Amino acid sequence: MCATDNENKGSAAPSEDTVSTMKSAFQTIQMTTAALLITTIALLIATCVLAADKSGSPSTEVAAVAATQTVTETVTVEVPTWPTVRPPAGENPCAGKKPDLPNIQCVIDAVEQTGEQAGANVTKGYNGLKETEATPITQNYYEVGICPVNVHWHLGAEHYSLGEFDETGTGPTDISGRRKLAGKTRQGFQCKHYNENDAKFTTPYEWKHCDATMEVGQTYEVHWPHSAAGACGTINQYQTPFYDGVFCRDGVLTDTAAQIGVQGQVFTIVNDEAYYYPDLMRGMIVDGEFGADMAMYTGSTTGTSRDNEICSQYAPITWQVDRKCHLISASTFDKMCADMKAQRDDMSDDLYAHGSRELVADHLAANNHANLRA
Ligand SMILES: *[C@@H]1O[C@H](CO)[C@@H](O)[C@H](O)[C@H]1NC(C)=O
Repeated sequence: MCATDNENKGSAAPSEDTVSTMKSAFQTIQMTTAALLITTIALLIATCVLAADKSGSPSTEVAAVAATQTVTETVTVEVPTWPTVRPPAGENPCAGKKPDLPNIQCVIDAVEQTGEQAGANVTKGYNGLKETEATPITQNYYEVGICPVNVHWHLGAEHYSLGEFDETGTGPTDISGRRKLAGKTRQGFQCKHYNENDAKFTTPYEWKHCDATMEVGQTYEVHWPHSAAGACGTINQYQTPFYDGVFCRDGVLTDTAAQIGVQGQVFTIVNDEAYYYPDLMRGMIVDGEFGADMAMYTGSTTGTSRDNEICSQYAPITWQVDRKCHLISASTFDKMCADMKAQRDDMSDDLYAHGSRELVADHLAANNHANLRA
């Protein structure tokens, strides 16, 4: 195990003194799991170096001191733990409220069969070709009385924002390449932040709450569906599937474009706590560059069961999509997943990335794209 000359000579076992020093070190230091692992590695290095020191090489003494110092410094590492305890069990008035609106063929005999689709190109200046009567909500959702009823995310971006998340974006490509070969989740567009030489894009994160298939360096598009018919302000507000939350209360929805809206925000995940936001479950982040450059249009629900042949009938609904891609810490997502686990409704079907729909063709995209900031 220890790569020293001693091992070759068959005398690598540490002396009794070294063993007792290690034992007392383990007994006296209180550590989190991660710190324990790091310390174990550091102690192993120290043990190797100390064992090597018996051979009398002067340079190993310096190394032994350095290794001992590493032990002292790494025990301060903290791994946050987040509560996932649920409220008391109770009735879920939203359960099963999803209306049965199957996907349909988008166009039959040159006649469009359903409303405008999402996710579209949200680049500034883009407009679809599909004429629509619907008008997107251009105020903040809280100003028009619609509340978030779910959060979920897609692998890569479903929307397209030229220069931010488009066909030239990159990520941990060999992983997504293998995923594609295995016929797994369809990946959308990627952002352009990824740098394979920067550890924050490549250091794996130990997922505790989100599904372990989540990847550092990867791009995800997060959606927060909002509805006037949600169980707003109650313990049942958050629902999976999100349709149950959107259609929870009967007799409320008369104008879907004005009463149902989704927020979309695109992130590249980094393993760096400087990018931690503690509350990603309750809506997109609005802070400086976050949520400042917004595209607004009417479309539909998304996902890989729809493409430019097979359309969603859940339309028109409002979309407000951040055109910029942002860095966010892996811990931000893991905290969100912990919060999702603490909801009364079982959100476990949204703790992993869903596949991305292919980009909406111009003829299926609404001609009402607007900006929050002109
Ligand atoms: C998206 O829209 C922009 C602005 O209209 C345009 O330049 C770009 O080519 C479009 N990209 C795609 C893939 O449709």
